[in-house]
Amino acid sequence: LSDRVGRLTVIGLGPGGDAGRTAEVVAVLAAATDLVGYSTYLDFVGVGEAPAATRHASDNREEADRSRFALDLAATGADVVVVSSGDPGVFAMAAAVMEQLDEAPDSAWAGVEVSVLPGVSAAQSAAARAGAPLGHDFCVISLSDNLKPWSIIEQRLDAAAGADFVIALYNPRSRARPEQFGVAVDVLRRHRSADTPVVLGRDIGRPAESVAVVPLGDLASPEGQERVDMRTVVIVGSSTTRRFTAPDGTSFTYTPRRYP
Ligand SMILES: C[S@@+](CC[C@H](N)C(=O)[O-])C[C@H]1O[C@@H](n2cnc3c(N)ncnc32)[C@H](O)[C@@H]1O
Repeated sequence: LSDRVGRLTVIGLGPGGDAGRTAEVVAVLAAATDLVGYSTYLDFVGVGEAPAATRHASDNREEADRSRFALDLAATGADVVVVSSGDPGVFAMAAAVMEQLDEAPDSAWAGVEVSVLPGVSAAQSAAARAGAPLGHDFCVISLSDNLKPWSIIEQRLDAAAGADFVIALYNPRSRARPEQFGVAVDVLRRHRSADTPVVLGRDIGRPAESVAVVPLGDLASPEGQERVDMRTVVIVGSSTTRRFTAPDGTSFTYTPRRYP
């Protein structure tokens, strides 16, 4: 075993292309000896961005294995970067690495210097495209029931909508559970009017980017729900979120800073 201290840095790439990276993420990628991550996200890192790095691509569902692999590699003295999309702390790899470290405090990973660098999360990117829908209190909820029961998700949606938060929904609608998004919309409709603005940000920062603002009522129908998939972040307005047309003709959606 080498006595060098390795490094493991968990980073967020931002939503897509290199224009969304922070300067510290750019620097860490440039110095990396190894990149570890889900293959789709590793593909977002250009060869020139991490010229010296060996790439270790994995399946999307192997977060625990991937974290242990990255820690083992760093323990040999490597400069390992674990790659997430958006922000690594939002439904991504930073917590997965923490879980492994927390479970094995006396392990061979003792010499590894672990750090997390933030990135621009999908909700922030989509919000900026639409105007300022996160301008007042908001919360973020994943609709994935891989790691938590659906009953908890429904309870949180109900509580957040009842508290009049703007709500950003991640992992909103997958092929494996297409009907649950409709249930989520029904829960939100208990507290929000049909004309509440909803931002649908899809593939933000990537070549296929699209942003649409639709009334919440439109998402009650199967056709409306078809517009939402796992490449979409959904921002549901609060009771005060508004849409208006600016003097240059641009349509913006925002949540005022003052509460009535
Ligand atoms: C596992 S979560 C990862 C979130 C990521 N760590 C972040 O901070 O953006 C994946 C979900 O994030 C959202 N997402 C990630 N990148 C996106 C993008 N470029 N455009 C729209 N939504 C995105 C989608 O809701 C997707 O289902």
